[in-house]
Amino acid sequence: MSETTIESILQEKRLFAPCSEFSQNANIKSFAEYQQLYEQSISDPEGFWANLAETELDWFQKWDRVLDWQPPFAKWFVNGKINISYNCLDRHLTTWRKNKAAIIWEGEPGDSRTLTYAQLHREVCQMANVFKQLGVKKGDRVGIYMPMIPEAAIAMLACARIGAPHSVVFGGFSAEALKARLQDAEAKLVVTADGGFRKDKVVPLKDALDEALSNNGVPSVENVLVVQRTKQTINMQEGRDHWWHELHAQASINCPPEPMDSEDLLFILYTSGTTGKPKGVVHTTGGYNLYTHITTKWAFDLKDTDVYWCTADVGWITGHSYIVYGPLSNGATSLMYEGAPRASNPGCFWDVIEKYGVTIFYTAPTAIRAFIKMGDEHPNARDLSSLRILGTVGEPINPEAWMWYHKVIGGERCPIVDTWWQTETGGFMITPLPGATSTKPGSATRPFPGIIADVVDLEGNSVGNNQGGYLVIKHPWPSMMRTVYKDDDRFRRTYWEHILPKNGKYLYFAGDGARKDEDGYFWIMGRVDDVMNISGHRIGTMEVESALVSHPAVAEAAVVGRPDELKGEDVYAFVTLEGSYQPSEALKEELKKHVVKEIGAIARPGEIRFADALPKTRSGKIIRRFLRNLAAGQELVGDISTMEDLSVLDKLREGA
Ligand code: WTA
Repeated sequence: MSETTIESILQEKRLFAPCSEFSQNANIKSFAEYQQLYEQSISDPEGFWANLAETELDWFQKWDRVLDWQPPFAKWFVNGKINISYNCLDRHLTTWRKNKAAIIWEGEPGDSRTLTYAQLHREVCQMANVFKQLGVKKGDRVGIYMPMIPEAAIAMLACARIGAPHSVVFGGFSAEALKARLQDAEAKLVVTADGGFRKDKVVPLKDALDEALSNNGVPSVENVLVVQRTKQTINMQEGRDHWWHELHAQASINCPPEPMDSEDLLFILYTSGTTGKPKGVVHTTGGYNLYTHITTKWAFDLKDTDVYWCTADVGWITGHSYIVYGPLSNGATSLMYEGAPRASNPGCFWDVIEKYGVTIFYTAPTAIRAFIKMGDEHPNARDLSSLRILGTVGEPINPEAWMWYHKVIGGERCPIVDTWWQTETGGFMITPLPGATSTKPGSATRPFPGIIADVVDLEGNSVGNNQGGYLVIKHPWPSMMRTVYKDDDRFRRTYWEHILPKNGKYLYFAGDGARKDEDGYFWIMGRVDDVMNISGHRIGTMEVESALVSHPAVAEAAVVGRPDELKGEDVYAFVTLEGSYQPSEALKEELKKHVVKEIGAIARPGEIRFADALPKTRSGKIIRRFLRNLAAGQELVGDISTMEDLSVLDKLREGA
């Protein structure tokens, strides 16, 4: 075993084929059809993408070149002119979709709204005109700091309409985090709301923005547009702050879409690295429009009859690509929900599915694990028979959580699309196509057409089947990030210089460990920063966690390496228990034995700690680096501003 690879120890053998009735009606109907598309996309990538760009999107002017690749910088559809808001709105108005629901929205307190394509178009034009009135021009950046209400999507589309790049900052971020992002983007305008409802509380968004802007904190900001949502009293600064409902009333409903260059900046979205300041991931227009469009259509098998619900927040890439741009470009009905499952309403997601007859449901492993913990009685008490496809994203899904999702939510009838991708990739990279791909619990299966993914060592050599290594992408794709905003050098360093093949080729380094099995299926093993080194074996945390979660007592597990004189590192596991189980020494021993049985003695946890909750990012990913510090008895190092709930760490420290 070389130092530059990762060992894989977990084997999962279950296989689920799509049923023939599903496949017959699907957009991509068979594995053979997928393979044919894939082969075509690899043998002639430019022809493949050009053909889709031509048939799936509307352009004001056709491109002269499909791809200009000056590694690591790519340009797609060079000199093409396009507007993504046109593709998401205007083009549907000349069809029967004009009066189809574009956005169905459900507020946390139970209020709701539906916007047809015609209504959404009108709102977007009006907001775009208000932006112009407030001095925003093509190229000016607009910050968006919003709750999950339709105006968040309206603001994004209004930016796209006039060519003002948006930078959405998740509404759960603090004033400090918001300030740093608005500063880096040099936003001229910020769109916000008085507040939002989340977990039975009011999130005071405007107050946080006031704090970020105080003492001229973000000098570029000239105006703030405030949407009224919660109606609590807020401060409105004369001359700077404007109510949307007041300007809305006078705004014209006509706003022609700006013809944008295919490579014009569409948005900047900040993603936090483990160290240093957040990176502004840059996405441009034409390639992003195409890729999010076609991945939504094929991976979710989208049909006009679907009610599609992605539970992400628009503050994350998932919300950008798969609540707003991908679904609307396809003319789909996209459901937006303001709330989150909460103690006072643990069944709220299932109520929403029942109420609107949701057919496609896309969520994250962290949510699935939370549902498991809340108990099957909640989903079991609702009618979920409208569902036909389930999706997951954000972290590797433990096979047992996958099985629960399949059985309890999907009624064993819905294919699960486990979509592996990143803020940086813009869209799905490795995912099943539900009518074509047989699935294996815990595997994101195969690359999307056009994507050449591989698992390699540090020199870029492919490792063998079932050997772990670094996940890379070997050819540019239309929605790849173009650079780190204002920092080409960081872009190069972070993504293109980790893996250095001898032949000088550029490989995109995703930062994840993975293995490919004998069927060509990819198994994501988590971030390579999280890999442990136990007696010289480099082992991903994910596999040991999945072994723990496969025990009935375990709800969630996070595993880290703890320095150990003999072994280099020893497995240290943090575990939360299912409702009916109590912590005990006997249970610890049982869990250790269970891991040995599932994957072998090498992974036997030296120590297990029971916890009430695990530290997570605001997007629900387990933060293992803090747990590493805790396990090693060190002070916590690194940025804690992206953490969801700081008290979790205090509790873990007290219990140490
Ligand atoms: C992880 C979210 C396993 C992975 C779209 C990746 C996943 C990071 C999966 C990107 C999946 C996302 N299986 N791991 N299906 N999806 N990840 O930028 O580590 O918030 O690198 O984008 O999430 O997270 P990001």
